[in-house]
Amino acid sequence: MTHKIIVIGSASMDLTVQTQVMPDQGETILGETLYMAPGGKGANQAVAAARLKRNRDVYMIGAVGDDAFGQTILNNLRQHGVNVDYMQTIEGEHSGTAHITLYEQDNRIIVVPAANNRIVPEVVLPILQQFEKGDIIVMQQEIPAKTVEAVIDEAAQLELQVILNPAPYRALDNRLLNKVTYLTPNESECQQLFGESMDDALAQHPNQLIVTLGAEGAVYFDQTRQTVPAYPCDVVDTTGAGDTFNGALAVALSEGQSFETAIQFANMASSFAVSALGAQGGIPTREVVDKALNQ
Ligand code: RIB
Repeated sequence: MTHKIIVIGSASMDLTVQTQVMPDQGETILGETLYMAPGGKGANQAVAAARLKRNRDVYMIGAVGDDAFGQTILNNLRQHGVNVDYMQTIEGEHSGTAHITLYEQDNRIIVVPAANNRIVPEVVLPILQQFEKGDIIVMQQEIPAKTVEAVIDEAAQLELQVILNPAPYRALDNRLLNKVTYLTPNESECQQLFGESMDDALAQHPNQLIVTLGAEGAVYFDQTRQTVPAYPCDVVDTTGAGDTFNGALAVALSEGQSFETAIQFANMASSFAVSALGAQGGIPTREVVDKALNQ
């Protein structure tokens, strides 16, 4: 038996500019290319989960504006097999956008949430009643804080599992952090969340906290610190690598894979994600990940 995956989060249009030079404050330069494609941490995680989950039982709860970007974002989710029954289209509102500069194979991102700010507890909580004990919620922090907080409390009541990817960083009460089933910050988010060394934070949250370290893989604590190495890959664009990790982790856990195997699966999926341009461009299919893991 596998559990359903419910992604509650942002769906945006990514506007990515590639440049060889970073402008100084007040300076104008000419960029090279503009790449426009659906993104948003929530949508990226939903697409990753749908590409990797055998029965494609993946739902997205989110919102877009009633503009052209909104239609493109919804069509993209549908094409990947994500269930969009719980996506709202907000009249008179813009869809979220992410303004990305890609420089020296790394990114700088400014997100304008727009419609993503309309993902509020009054809309989301009633939908959660449709799901069953053990189903997995995946959340990030490009939606209102009050929604993330209310969902964590409600999920505990309904015995739904929660993977919280605390990106971008925003302070979150310890009471709520402790209620989350799995927490997946990167190293700097971990430091900001706990205000102590990564090793101390890991030791205090055994088999709950997974810190992603990019090319160094991911670490968690189970009696001692455990490192799950990354797989070597050619990096084209790291945008969305963390999202693929979270979507893949949800898939593996929904199938009942062990903690360590689930992290290996997520590491392998994200190694493919960085090898193509765009947040969703490199997300692999299940066949590709299974084949690579079996080699
Ligand atoms: O994690 C990558 C995502 O962050 C991009 O797709 C962009 O939308 C930003 O929100």
